[in-house]
Amino acid sequence: MKLLNLRLTNYRNCADLSIETASSKILIIGKNAQGKTNILESIYFLSALKSPRTSNNIELIEFNQDKCEIEAEIIKAETSINLDFSYTKDKVRELKVNKVKTSPKEFKTVLKTVLFSAADLLLLRGSPENRRDWLDRAITQIYPAYDERLSKYEKIRIQKNNFLKNCLKTGIYNDDLLEVFNEQLVITGSNIIYLRKKFLKEIENIARKKHANISENEELQLEYNCSFLNGENEIDEIASAFKNSLYERKVEEQRRGQACVGPHRDDIVFYINGNDASKFASQGQQRTIVLALKLSELDIITDKTGDEPILLLDDVLAELDDIRQNYLLKSIKPEIQTIITSVDTLLFDQEFLDSVIIFNIEQGRLI
Ligand SMILES: Nc1ncnc2c1ncn2[C@@H]1O[C@H](COP(=O)(O)OP(=O)(O)O)[C@@H](O)[C@H]1O
Ligand SMILES: [Mg+2]
Repeated sequence: MKLLNLRLTNYRNCADLSIETASSKILIIGKNAQGKTNILESIYFLSALKSPRTSNNIELIEFNQDKCEIEAEIIKAETSINLDFSYTKDKVRELKVNKVKTSPKEFKTVLKTVLFSAADLLLLRGSPENRRDWLDRAITQIYPAYDERLSKYEKIRIQKNNFLKNCLKTGIYNDDLLEVFNEQLVITGSNIIYLRKKFLKEIENIARKKHANISENEELQLEYNCSFLNGENEIDEIASAFKNSLYERKVEEQRRGQACVGPHRDDIVFYINGNDASKFASQGQQRTIVLALKLSELDIITDKTGDEPILLLDDVLAELDDIRQNYLLKSIKPEIQTIITSVDTLLFDQEFLDSVIIFNIEQGRLI
């Protein structure tokens, strides 16, 4: 698929920005804080209805304005599709596909993107939450309904936390109500864990090969780390282990006044040649892992949806050394539309610069 054009109205610092993106390689150049990330964020937003930077959509509206809008034309399976998102200060969201109002679920099926930003390179150094976020975002691109399951789980977890806190305060424990929360957490949570484990296996298979290529044969392994699992993969096995763990840790949860087990506590561990890469790998080795993962996301989305996603590379090339930069640029297939941001063109060789369309941005405007 390809983004043909994008128009931003009162979106962050872009009051009125139109960009023709029909080319397959696009380079957006600008100094810091001019709006490069804002543009990529808006494209990502159309695919996920979520910003990678904030969960408060009001931040997307230009300061002092009441409404922001992202419009795009996409070509997919030789058909042109219009996407239109708007959001107001009063939190009114409007979604249109081909000018017809549509549901978030429907909207999210149209555009697929893989966003790779400099911050992703810190994935291994980051918190378990950062790693769960990466995994969840990647899964959502393939199974749009996954997002709803996550929200449902979150909602129940927060209710359970409030309930446990209240019990602590009053000293009154209602076991039946706790049981209801736990049952619901087991149903949605096991499903989330099952999908995460399944996706992790799939991405591991692809990423291992890519990783071996870049690293000259180091062996990458990914592991889903969940306190109550020991290699179980089937959904009913996961559910029963989850249930047991909730039972075993009931007193601890009551004492602490919060939900202590479940997918919201899980993590992903990366191994190189059997060693935990977050502890033992160099910065370069950790970056190689993230690079392999991101390129694998592209392959998986292409495989599952039958269409190539759009690759958004936000300031990432400057953070990679020559070998990894070259590997990245060479391994992107020509049919994958790639939109790259960078502070300047110095990083790129002339051959590459000749093959891209370059835009310059200053204070939210193309110049
Ligand atoms: N809601 C908003 N309204 C107006 N300007 C905003 C808004 N949100 C962010 N900005 C501005 O956008 C700029 C940052 O844009 P960004 O795309 O992150 O820059 P970069 O080119 O470095 O990637 C900053 O100047 C910031 O003040
Ligand atoms: Mg930026």
